[in-house]
Amino acid sequence: MGFLANKRILLGVTGGIAAYKSADLVRRLQDAGAEVRVAMTPAAREFIAPLTFQALSGNPVHCDLLDPAAEAAMGHIELARWADAVIVAPATADFLAKLASGAADNLLLATCLATAAPIALAPAMNQGMWSKASTAANVELLRSRGFTLLGPDAGSQACGDIGPGRMLEPLAIIAGLDTLFSSDLLAGKKVVITAGPTREAIDPVRYISNHSSGKMGYALAAAAAAAGADTWLISGPTALATPERVKRIAVTSATEMLEATLSAMAGCHLFIGSAAVADYRPLSVAEHKIKKKDQSGTTLTLVLEKNPDIIATVAALPNRPLTVGFAAETCDLEVHARQKLDSKNLDAVIANDVSRTDIGFNSDDNQVLLVTAGGADWLPLMNKSKLAQELIARLAARL
Ligand code: C5P
Repeated sequence: MGFLANKRILLGVTGGIAAYKSADLVRRLQDAGAEVRVAMTPAAREFIAPLTFQALSGNPVHCDLLDPAAEAAMGHIELARWADAVIVAPATADFLAKLASGAADNLLLATCLATAAPIALAPAMNQGMWSKASTAANVELLRSRGFTLLGPDAGSQACGDIGPGRMLEPLAIIAGLDTLFSSDLLAGKKVVITAGPTREAIDPVRYISNHSSGKMGYALAAAAAAAGADTWLISGPTALATPERVKRIAVTSATEMLEATLSAMAGCHLFIGSAAVADYRPLSVAEHKIKKKDQSGTTLTLVLEKNPDIIATVAALPNRPLTVGFAAETCDLEVHARQKLDSKNLDAVIANDVSRTDIGFNSDDNQVLLVTAGGADWLPLMNKSKLAQELIARLAARL
Protein backbone atom coordinates (compact mmCIF):
# COMPACT_ATOMS: atom_id res chain seq x y z
CA MET A 1 0.00 0.00 0.00
CA GLY A 2 1.30 3.47 -0.88
CA PHE A 3 1.17 6.56 1.28
CA LEU A 4 -2.13 7.88 -0.09
CA ALA A 5 -4.30 5.35 1.75
CA ASN A 6 -6.95 7.12 3.82
CA LYS A 7 -5.74 10.52 2.67
CA ARG A 8 -8.16 13.27 1.65
CA ILE A 9 -7.10 14.69 -1.65
CA LEU A 10 -8.58 17.79 -3.22
CA LEU A 11 -8.13 17.65 -6.99
CA GLY A 12 -8.22 21.12 -8.56
CA VAL A 13 -8.99 21.17 -12.25
CA THR A 14 -8.25 24.28 -14.31
CA GLY A 15 -9.06 25.11 -17.93
CA GLY A 16 -6.73 23.12 -20.15
CA ILE A 17 -7.26 20.30 -22.63
CA ALA A 18 -5.38 17.92 -20.28
CA ALA A 19 -8.46 18.13 -18.03
CA TYR A 20 -9.73 14.99 -19.75
CA LYS A 21 -6.92 13.08 -18.00
CA SER A 22 -8.03 14.40 -14.61
CA ALA A 23 -11.04 12.07 -14.76
CA ASP A 24 -8.65 9.13 -14.85
CA LEU A 25 -6.60 10.74 -12.07
CA VAL A 26 -9.67 10.61 -9.79
CA ARG A 27 -9.87 6.86 -10.35
CA ARG A 28 -6.15 6.34 -9.78
CA LEU A 29 -6.27 8.34 -6.55
CA GLN A 30 -9.15 6.17 -5.37
CA ASP A 31 -7.23 3.03 -6.35
CA ALA A 32 -4.43 4.32 -4.10
CA GLY A 33 -6.92 4.46 -1.23
CA ALA A 34 -7.52 8.22 -1.19
CA GLU A 35 -10.82 10.01 -0.68
CA VAL A 36 -11.22 12.55 -3.47
CA ARG A 37 -13.08 15.82 -3.84
CA VAL A 38 -12.86 17.93 -6.96
CA ALA A 39 -12.83 21.72 -7.32
CA MET A 40 -13.07 23.26 -10.80
CA THR A 41 -12.35 26.72 -12.13
CA PRO A 42 -14.92 28.30 -14.49
CA ALA A 43 -12.59 27.68 -17.48
CA ALA A 44 -12.24 23.98 -16.56
CA ARG A 45 -15.99 23.59 -16.97
CA GLU A 46 -15.62 24.58 -20.62
CA PHE A 47 -13.50 21.47 -21.14
CA ILE A 48 -15.20 18.85 -18.98
CA ALA A 49 -18.50 18.70 -17.13
CA PRO A 50 -18.64 18.73 -13.31
CA LEU A 51 -21.02 15.78 -13.54
CA THR A 52 -18.16 13.58 -14.76
CA PHE A 53 -16.17 14.33 -11.60
CA GLN A 54 -19.22 14.06 -9.38
CA ALA A 55 -19.96 10.58 -10.72
CA LEU A 56 -16.34 9.45 -10.41
CA SER A 57 -15.58 10.92 -6.99
CA GLY A 58 -18.97 10.21 -5.45
CA ASN A 59 -18.96 13.75 -4.04
CA PRO A 60 -20.48 17.02 -5.20
CA VAL A 61 -18.02 19.09 -7.23
CA HIS A 62 -16.94 22.45 -5.84
CA CYS A 63 -17.23 25.22 -8.42
CA ASP A 64 -18.61 28.49 -7.08
CA LEU A 65 -17.06 30.76 -4.53
CA LEU A 66 -20.04 33.07 -4.37
CA ASP A 67 -22.88 30.54 -4.46
CA PRO A 68 -24.57 30.70 -1.00
CA ALA A 69 -26.02 27.17 -1.30
CA ALA A 70 -22.67 25.60 -2.23
CA GLU A 71 -20.85 27.56 0.48
CA ALA A 72 -23.41 26.46 3.06
CA ALA A 73 -22.91 22.79 2.10
CA MET A 74 -19.10 22.83 2.23
CA GLY A 75 -17.50 26.20 1.79
CA HIS A 76 -13.96 26.93 0.66
CA ILE A 77 -12.64 27.24 4.21
CA GLU A 78 -14.10 23.90 5.20
CA LEU A 79 -12.73 22.37 2.02
CA ALA A 80 -9.32 23.90 2.77
CA ARG A 81 -9.41 22.29 6.24
CA TRP A 82 -10.71 18.97 4.89
CA ALA A 83 -7.83 18.40 2.49
CA ASP A 84 -4.67 16.54 3.50
CA ALA A 85 -3.18 17.64 0.19
CA VAL A 86 -4.24 19.59 -2.89
CA ILE A 87 -3.21 18.57 -6.41
CA VAL A 88 -4.00 20.98 -9.21
CA ALA A 89 -3.97 18.99 -12.46
CA PRO A 90 -3.92 20.42 -15.00
CA ALA A 91 -2.51 23.72 -13.73
CA THR A 92 -2.61 26.29 -16.55
CA ALA A 93 -0.18 29.18 -16.99
CA ASP A 94 -2.97 31.55 -15.97
CA PHE A 95 -3.69 29.58 -12.79
CA LEU A 96 0.02 29.47 -11.85
CA ALA A 97 0.26 33.23 -12.37
CA LYS A 98 -2.77 33.92 -10.20
CA LEU A 99 -1.59 31.48 -7.51
CA ALA A 100 1.85 33.10 -7.45
CA SER A 101 0.24 36.52 -7.03
CA GLY A 102 -1.99 35.38 -4.15
CA ALA A 103 -5.21 35.97 -6.08
CA ALA A 104 -8.33 34.32 -4.74
CA ASP A 105 -11.08 35.23 -7.20
CA ASN A 106 -12.37 31.71 -7.75
CA LEU A 107 -13.10 28.84 -5.40
CA LEU A 108 -9.98 26.81 -6.22
CA LEU A 109 -7.65 29.80 -5.75
CA ALA A 110 -9.39 30.80 -2.52
CA THR A 111 -9.10 27.24 -1.21
CA CYS A 112 -5.40 27.09 -2.12
CA LEU A 113 -4.85 30.37 -0.32
CA ALA A 114 -6.73 29.21 2.77
CA THR A 115 -5.39 25.69 3.17
CA ALA A 116 -2.52 24.61 5.41
CA ALA A 117 -2.20 21.38 3.43
CA PRO A 118 0.65 20.84 0.97
CA ILE A 119 -0.17 21.83 -2.62
CA ALA A 120 1.17 20.03 -5.68
CA LEU A 121 0.88 21.43 -9.18
CA ALA A 122 0.89 19.50 -12.46
CA PRO A 123 1.38 22.20 -15.11
CA ALA A 124 -0.07 21.68 -18.56
CA MET A 125 0.23 24.22 -21.34
CA ASN A 126 1.64 24.90 -24.76
CA GLN A 127 5.46 24.67 -24.86
CA GLY A 128 5.73 28.36 -25.77
CA MET A 129 3.72 29.38 -22.73
CA TRP A 130 5.79 27.08 -20.47
CA SER A 131 9.07 28.53 -21.82
CA LYS A 132 8.10 32.20 -21.27
CA ALA A 133 10.11 34.06 -18.66
CA SER A 134 6.91 35.11 -16.86
CA THR A 135 5.79 31.49 -16.40
CA ALA A 136 9.30 30.44 -15.35
CA ALA A 137 9.39 33.25 -12.76
CA ASN A 138 5.96 32.27 -11.39
CA VAL A 139 7.02 28.63 -11.12
CA GLU A 140 10.25 29.59 -9.36
CA LEU A 141 8.32 31.76 -6.89
CA LEU A 142 5.82 28.99 -6.23
CA ARG A 143 8.64 26.47 -5.67
CA SER A 144 10.38 28.81 -3.25
CA ARG A 145 7.11 29.12 -1.32
CA GLY A 146 6.83 25.37 -0.82
CA PHE A 147 4.58 24.32 -3.69
CA THR A 148 5.54 20.97 -5.22
CA LEU A 149 5.85 20.98 -9.02
CA LEU A 150 5.05 17.66 -10.70
CA GLY A 151 6.16 17.81 -14.32
CA PRO A 152 5.51 18.90 -16.95
CA ASP A 153 6.51 16.20 -19.40
CA ALA A 154 7.86 16.93 -22.84
CA GLY A 155 6.52 15.54 -26.09
CA SER A 156 3.80 16.08 -28.64
CA GLN A 157 1.08 18.50 -27.61
CA ALA A 158 -2.63 18.78 -28.39
CA CYS A 159 -1.92 21.94 -30.42
CA GLY A 160 0.56 20.08 -32.65
CA ASP A 161 3.73 21.53 -31.07
CA ILE A 162 6.44 19.37 -29.62
CA GLY A 163 8.19 20.38 -26.40
CA PRO A 164 7.78 20.73 -22.63
CA GLY A 165 4.29 21.38 -21.26
CA ARG A 166 2.43 18.07 -21.35
CA MET A 167 0.70 17.18 -18.10
CA LEU A 168 2.30 14.22 -16.31
CA GLU A 169 0.40 10.97 -16.71
CA PRO A 170 -1.92 10.22 -13.76
CA LEU A 171 0.28 7.40 -12.37
CA ALA A 172 3.32 9.69 -12.36
CA ILE A 173 1.26 12.31 -10.51
CA ILE A 174 0.26 9.66 -7.95
CA ALA A 175 3.92 8.75 -7.43
CA GLY A 176 4.76 12.42 -6.86
CA LEU A 177 1.89 12.88 -4.42
CA ASP A 178 2.97 9.78 -2.50
CA THR A 179 6.21 11.50 -1.53
CA LEU A 180 4.26 14.30 0.16
CA PHE A 181 3.23 11.82 2.83
CA SER A 182 6.22 9.48 2.96
CA SER A 183 7.64 11.17 6.06
CA ASP A 184 4.57 10.45 8.24
CA LEU A 185 5.62 8.25 11.17
CA LEU A 186 3.48 5.31 10.10
CA ALA A 187 3.18 6.06 6.38
CA GLY A 188 2.62 2.90 4.39
CA LYS A 189 2.13 0.78 7.53
CA LYS A 190 -0.89 -1.26 8.55
CA VAL A 191 -1.84 -1.22 12.22
CA VAL A 192 -4.42 -3.50 13.84
CA ILE A 193 -5.69 -2.72 17.34
CA THR A 194 -8.13 -4.60 19.54
CA ALA A 195 -10.13 -2.53 22.02
CA GLY A 196 -12.93 -2.60 24.54
CA PRO A 197 -14.40 -5.50 26.45
CA THR A 198 -15.78 -8.75 25.08
CA ARG A 199 -19.17 -10.15 26.01
CA GLU A 200 -19.56 -13.87 26.57
CA ALA A 201 -23.14 -15.04 26.28
CA ILE A 202 -24.79 -17.02 29.06
CA ASP A 203 -28.20 -17.14 27.39
CA PRO A 204 -29.91 -14.94 24.77
CA VAL A 205 -30.19 -11.99 27.18
CA ARG A 206 -27.29 -12.30 29.62
CA TYR A 207 -23.54 -12.17 29.32
CA ILE A 208 -20.27 -12.00 31.22
CA SER A 209 -18.17 -8.90 30.56
CA ASN A 210 -15.95 -6.31 32.24
CA HIS A 211 -15.68 -2.56 32.78
CA SER A 212 -13.31 -1.74 29.91
CA SER A 213 -14.39 1.50 28.18
CA GLY A 214 -12.16 1.01 25.13
CA LYS A 215 -10.83 4.58 25.49
CA MET A 216 -7.13 3.64 25.37
CA GLY A 217 -7.52 1.43 22.27
CA TYR A 218 -9.61 4.04 20.46
CA ALA A 219 -7.06 6.74 21.31
CA LEU A 220 -4.28 4.50 19.94
CA ALA A 221 -6.27 3.93 16.75
CA ALA A 222 -6.81 7.69 16.32
CA ALA A 223 -3.09 8.33 16.87
CA ALA A 224 -2.05 5.57 14.44
CA ALA A 225 -4.39 6.90 11.74
CA ALA A 226 -3.13 10.46 12.32
CA ALA A 227 0.42 9.12 11.89
CA GLY A 228 -0.53 7.86 8.44
CA ALA A 229 -1.21 4.18 9.14
CA ASP A 230 -3.90 2.10 7.50
CA THR A 231 -5.64 1.50 10.82
CA TRP A 232 -8.03 -1.31 11.74
CA LEU A 233 -9.83 -1.30 15.06
CA ILE A 234 -11.37 -4.58 16.18
CA SER A 235 -13.71 -3.43 18.88
CA GLY A 236 -15.87 -5.08 21.46
CA PRO A 237 -19.05 -3.22 22.48
CA THR A 238 -18.24 0.36 23.53
CA ALA A 239 -20.04 3.70 23.58
CA LEU A 240 -17.27 5.41 21.61
CA ALA A 241 -17.39 6.96 18.15
CA THR A 242 -15.09 5.46 15.52
CA PRO A 243 -12.07 7.75 15.13
CA GLU A 244 -11.65 9.40 11.72
CA ARG A 245 -10.05 7.28 8.99
CA VAL A 246 -10.17 4.16 11.15
CA LYS A 247 -11.75 0.97 9.86
CA ARG A 248 -13.75 -0.41 12.76
CA ILE A 249 -14.89 -4.00 12.89
CA ALA A 250 -17.46 -4.50 15.62
CA VAL A 251 -17.35 -7.81 17.47
CA THR A 252 -18.97 -9.15 20.60
CA SER A 253 -17.22 -12.24 21.94
CA ALA A 254 -13.56 -13.22 22.26
CA THR A 255 -14.02 -15.88 19.61
CA GLU A 256 -15.34 -13.28 17.15
CA MET A 257 -12.52 -10.91 18.11
CA LEU A 258 -9.94 -13.61 17.36
CA GLU A 259 -11.55 -14.38 14.02
CA ALA A 260 -11.71 -10.69 12.99
CA THR A 261 -8.13 -10.14 14.15
CA LEU A 262 -6.77 -13.05 12.16
CA SER A 263 -8.60 -11.99 9.03
CA ALA A 264 -7.08 -8.47 9.38
CA MET A 265 -3.52 -9.77 9.73
CA ALA A 266 -2.54 -9.78 6.05
CA GLY A 267 0.14 -7.11 5.57
CA CYS A 268 -0.06 -5.99 9.22
CA HIS A 269 3.07 -4.29 10.58
CA LEU A 270 1.96 -3.50 14.13
CA PHE A 271 -0.61 -5.26 16.33
CA ILE A 272 -1.68 -3.78 19.63
CA GLY A 273 -3.90 -5.87 21.89
CA SER A 274 -5.57 -3.33 24.13
CA ALA A 275 -8.86 -5.19 24.46
CA ALA A 276 -9.91 -6.52 27.84
CA VAL A 277 -10.69 -9.96 26.50
CA ALA A 278 -12.75 -12.15 28.82
CA ASP A 279 -10.52 -15.01 29.87
CA TYR A 280 -13.43 -17.45 30.12
CA ARG A 281 -16.81 -17.99 28.48
CA PRO A 282 -19.75 -20.18 29.47
CA LEU A 283 -19.15 -23.73 28.28
CA SER A 284 -22.63 -23.85 26.81
CA VAL A 285 -24.97 -21.01 25.91
CA ALA A 286 -28.59 -21.70 26.91
CA GLU A 287 -30.86 -21.59 23.89
CA HIS A 288 -33.61 -19.84 25.86
CA LYS A 289 -33.51 -17.39 28.74
CA ILE A 290 -32.61 -19.23 31.94
CA LYS A 291 -35.67 -19.08 34.23
CA LYS A 292 -35.37 -18.73 37.97
CA LYS A 293 -38.32 -21.03 38.47
CA ASP A 294 -36.54 -23.85 36.62
CA GLN A 295 -33.62 -23.80 39.08
CA SER A 296 -33.57 -25.78 42.25
CA GLY A 297 -32.00 -24.35 45.41
CA THR A 298 -30.53 -20.88 45.82
CA THR A 299 -27.47 -21.15 43.60
CA LEU A 300 -26.85 -21.38 39.90
CA THR A 301 -23.65 -22.92 38.63
CA LEU A 302 -22.09 -21.71 35.42
CA VAL A 303 -19.33 -23.82 33.95
CA LEU A 304 -16.75 -21.71 32.08
CA GLU A 305 -14.14 -22.65 29.52
CA LYS A 306 -11.01 -20.76 28.55
CA ASN A 307 -11.16 -18.29 25.70
CA PRO A 308 -8.40 -18.27 23.10
CA ASP A 309 -5.55 -15.86 23.83
CA ILE A 310 -5.76 -13.48 20.87
CA ILE A 311 -2.44 -11.74 21.30
CA ALA A 312 -0.53 -14.97 21.92
CA THR A 313 -2.11 -16.38 18.76
CA VAL A 314 -0.94 -13.33 16.77
CA ALA A 315 2.54 -13.55 18.31
CA ALA A 316 2.77 -17.19 17.17
CA LEU A 317 1.99 -16.41 13.51
CA PRO A 318 4.84 -17.19 11.10
CA ASN A 319 5.02 -13.62 9.70
CA ARG A 320 4.00 -11.87 12.86
CA PRO A 321 3.73 -8.11 13.15
CA LEU A 322 5.40 -6.15 15.94
CA THR A 323 3.14 -7.37 18.73
CA VAL A 324 2.32 -5.21 21.72
CA GLY A 325 0.15 -6.14 24.69
CA PHE A 326 -1.33 -4.43 27.70
CA ALA A 327 -1.04 -5.51 31.30
CA ALA A 328 -3.56 -4.28 33.85
CA GLU A 329 -1.94 -4.94 37.22
CA THR A 330 -2.49 -4.02 40.85
CA CYS A 331 1.11 -4.52 42.09
CA ASP A 332 4.66 -5.31 40.91
CA LEU A 333 3.95 -3.85 37.48
CA GLU A 334 7.30 -4.52 35.87
CA VAL A 335 7.57 -8.10 37.15
CA HIS A 336 4.12 -9.03 35.86
CA ALA A 337 4.57 -7.17 32.58
CA ARG A 338 7.85 -8.96 31.94
CA GLN A 339 6.21 -12.32 32.66
CA LYS A 340 3.57 -11.45 30.06
CA LEU A 341 6.20 -10.33 27.59
CA ASP A 342 7.95 -13.70 27.89
CA SER A 343 4.96 -16.05 28.21
CA LYS A 344 3.07 -14.54 25.27
CA ASN A 345 6.25 -13.86 23.27
CA LEU A 346 5.46 -10.13 22.83
CA ASP A 347 7.70 -7.30 21.61
CA ALA A 348 6.43 -4.84 24.20
CA VAL A 349 3.96 -4.64 27.07
CA ILE A 350 2.25 -1.45 28.18
CA ALA A 351 1.55 -1.87 31.88
CA ASN A 352 -0.70 0.20 34.07
CA ASP A 353 -1.78 0.10 37.69
CA VAL A 354 -5.53 -0.52 37.81
CA SER A 355 -5.67 -0.28 41.59
CA ARG A 356 -5.45 3.52 41.17
CA THR A 357 -8.78 5.26 40.60
CA ASP A 358 -7.30 8.32 38.83
CA ILE A 359 -6.03 6.29 35.87
CA GLY A 360 -6.87 3.17 33.85
CA PHE A 361 -10.19 1.55 32.99
CA ASN A 362 -12.80 4.30 32.66
CA SER A 363 -10.56 7.27 33.22
CA ASP A 364 -9.50 9.81 30.58
CA ASP A 365 -5.95 9.73 31.90
CA ASN A 366 -3.36 7.02 32.15
CA GLN A 367 0.19 6.52 33.33
CA VAL A 368 2.01 3.54 31.92
CA LEU A 369 5.23 1.59 32.06
CA LEU A 370 6.51 0.50 28.63
CA VAL A 371 8.31 -2.81 29.07
CA THR A 372 10.46 -4.37 26.35
CA ALA A 373 13.21 -6.98 26.36
CA GLY A 374 15.70 -4.11 26.56
CA GLY A 375 14.27 -2.24 29.56
CA ALA A 376 11.34 -0.48 31.15
CA ASP A 377 10.33 3.14 30.72
CA TRP A 378 7.76 5.15 32.72
CA LEU A 379 5.65 7.58 30.71
CA PRO A 380 4.28 10.44 32.81
CA LEU A 381 0.59 10.79 33.70
CA MET A 382 -1.26 12.34 30.76
CA ASN A 383 -4.55 12.12 28.96
CA LYS A 384 -5.11 9.00 26.89
CA SER A 385 -5.00 10.77 23.58
CA LYS A 386 -1.62 12.43 24.31
CA LEU A 387 -0.34 9.17 25.73
CA ALA A 388 -1.51 7.32 22.62
CA GLN A 389 0.47 9.71 20.40
CA GLU A 390 3.56 9.17 22.53
CA LEU A 391 3.17 5.38 22.47
CA ILE A 392 2.58 5.34 18.71
CA ALA A 393 5.73 7.45 18.18
CA ARG A 394 7.78 5.02 20.28
CA LEU A 395 6.33 1.93 18.59
CA ALA A 396 6.78 3.47 15.11
CA ALA A 397 10.47 3.91 15.94
CA ARG A 398 10.71 0.16 16.60
CA LEU A 399 9.19 -0.80 13.25
O1 C5P B 1 -3.31 -12.37 30.15
P1 C5P B 1 -3.78 -10.96 30.32
O2 C5P B 1 -5.24 -10.81 30.07
O3 C5P B 1 -3.38 -10.31 31.58
O4 C5P B 1 -2.98 -10.18 29.17
C1 C5P B 1 -3.35 -8.94 28.73
C2 C5P B 1 -2.98 -8.77 27.29
O5 C5P B 1 -3.36 -9.91 26.53
C3 C5P B 1 -3.75 -7.64 26.64
O6 C5P B 1 -2.91 -7.11 25.62
C4 C5P B 1 -4.97 -8.31 26.08
O7 C5P B 1 -5.54 -7.57 25.01
C5 C5P B 1 -4.40 -9.63 25.62
N1 C5P B 1 -5.35 -10.75 25.68
C6 C5P B 1 -5.77 -11.34 24.51
N2 C5P B 1 -6.61 -12.43 24.55
C7 C5P B 1 -7.03 -12.94 25.73
C8 C5P B 1 -6.61 -12.35 26.92
C9 C5P B 1 -5.78 -11.25 26.88
O8 C5P B 1 -5.41 -10.87 23.43
N3 C5P B 1 -7.84 -13.98 25.74
